[in-house]
Amino acid sequence: MSSSVNTAGATRLQQTLAQFSKLNLLSGVTPLNKLNNLSRLLGREIYIKRDDLTPLAAGGNKLRKLEFLMADALEKGAQFIVTAGAIQSNHVRQTAAVAAMYGLKCVALLENPIGSQEANFLNNGNKLLTDLFGTHCVMCDALTDPDAQMQALINHMQLSDAYIVPVGGSNMLGSLGYAECAMEIVQQTPEGTEFGAVVVASGSAGTHAGLSAGLQLVMPQTPVIGVTVSRVYADQAPKVVKLQNELAQLFDIETPAPIVLWDSYFAPEYGMPNAGGLEAIELLARHEGILLDPVYTGKAMAGLIDQVRRHPEDTSPLLFVHTGGAAGLFAYQEVSAAI
Ligand SMILES: Cc1ncc(COP(=O)(O)O)c(C=O)c1O
Repeated sequence: MSSSVNTAGATRLQQTLAQFSKLNLLSGVTPLNKLNNLSRLLGREIYIKRDDLTPLAAGGNKLRKLEFLMADALEKGAQFIVTAGAIQSNHVRQTAAVAAMYGLKCVALLENPIGSQEANFLNNGNKLLTDLFGTHCVMCDALTDPDAQMQALINHMQLSDAYIVPVGGSNMLGSLGYAECAMEIVQQTPEGTEFGAVVVASGSAGTHAGLSAGLQLVMPQTPVIGVTVSRVYADQAPKVVKLQNELAQLFDIETPAPIVLWDSYFAPEYGMPNAGGLEAIELLARHEGILLDPVYTGKAMAGLIDQVRRHPEDTSPLLFVHTGGAAGLFAYQEVSAAI
């Protein structure tokens, strides 16, 4: 455990979390390791939190959110779990798996954000697994107002006992999963190591906001940096801030930590691979045997690598939270074309 843990904050975090119902899907902790080869290559100590290794359905960050969201759904007597995302959504894949585990029917409203008609994009990767879990998938042109669109679908299908899991599992309840993860991080931080920052992909923002609130309580000296995968700062920051403020109120945090975003790594757009992300995927695969993905973690790692190279004067260790997504590798021809 890091010697710099704030014990009062940790107690407040744990006592507040204990007020919420939670499943035990994770049943343990995910590893936190040093990436020895990447650290040597970059000349800076890089650690990784392996949330790609959460134990259900090819892993990923959504399981932590679903611990709280699905507990709520089950308490409310839900028979249908309705959610939404991109056709290659990792979130939908994991939600569908948990629904299957509890004998619930998952209904997914899907969009094709990049308009790809590649067979693998339409049918392989996350979509294959989502189908395998028995999900009823409905395509729409675009998720412009997902909550309203899911409600309209529920009405149209005349589903009673339906529970809406928001896009990315990112409401306050889902974000608790990452506030809790902060506790795990502080417990796993090697004695004597103080991270200069925790770096994570920032999409629907629940992971970023949850980590930010949780770390502010238990390791307040450590900032969270979100690498945007969908939007520029001006559009992403309000999403993080909204959730962070809700969590701050819950945890009695007077002044939420400033939001830091690196927003120049997601081009050309959400869901489209780019050269930096593909290079990061190859680098981590070849030197660490770790799988990143072309939509989230490849781009986030590309941001980390670029920032390390730009700031050789900064020598503090960094922690990368690996949020999963490797199922997406099978959906993008750009990956095989790049290696
Ligand atoms: C692999 C992966 N990483 C990161 C994220 C981003 O997490 P969040 O949506 O909580 O910001 C997602 C979201 O779907 C994801 O699938």
